[in-house]
Amino acid sequence: MVCHQAIATDNPAVRELAAMAPGSRIRWERVYQVPDYVFFSHGEHSKAGLDCVTCHGPVASRTVLDQEISTNMVACMNCHAERKASVECFLCHDLGQ
Ligand code: HEC
Ligand code: HEC
Ligand code: HEC
Repeated sequence: MVCHQAIATDNPAVRELAAMAPGSRIRWERVYQVPDYVFFSHGEHSKAGLDCVTCHGPVASRTVLDQEISTNMVACMNCHAERKASVECFLCHDLGQ
């Protein structure tokens, strides 16, 4: 609620959130999710200066989210090639047993 004490306070979903008892579970539907055999972390991507918009589209102007940008392997590889980041298999996959 840190952000939503001030932002979009009239939005019905935000009102619902505000009315919830502290500590209760929020229904969370994943929109972006890579399979569990893929390693992904936001940290290094943020450090590399990539904006949220690059991978998630213009979320700031949406009230309901959809997957607008693909996160399949081709999408990862294309940007890695463009930005001269590694495209070695083991970067994103654990090749151990
Ligand atoms: C390089 C691409 C990339 C960038 C940049 C990026 N994300 Fe993500 N984001 C992803 C991927 C891929 C996933 C899925 C991760 C997973 O399944 O573990 C994800 C997942 C998420 C999720 C969970 C989504 C869900 O459906 O539950 C949130 C929230 C999120 N990102 C917010 C952000 C924010 C905020 C920023 C900017 C500060 C950002 N992301 C920047 C690629 C990116
Ligand atoms: C828009 C560009 C872009 C996209 C899309 C992108 N990456 Fe990256 N990624 C980078 C850059 C740039 C780096 C190098 C960061 C550095 O080391 O300075 C990086 C680094 C990484 C690393 C090594 C750093 C770490 O976090 O351990 C992994 C793993 C990785 N990316 C996984 C993925 C996966 C998986 C996807 C797709 C779901 C993806 N990336 C999509 C730009 C991108
Ligand atoms: C930058 C990250 C990244 C790198 C590097 C990468 N992959 Fe992937 N890979 C992914 C992601 C993300 C997926 C999941 C694709 C999806 O959800 O559509 C995936 C999926 C796969 C799959 C499953 C495909 C399927 O249809 O079930 C195989 C096999 C695979 N990768 C092999 C490789 C091999 C071999 C290499 C090295 C040549 C490699 N990957 C390099 C990110 C990466």
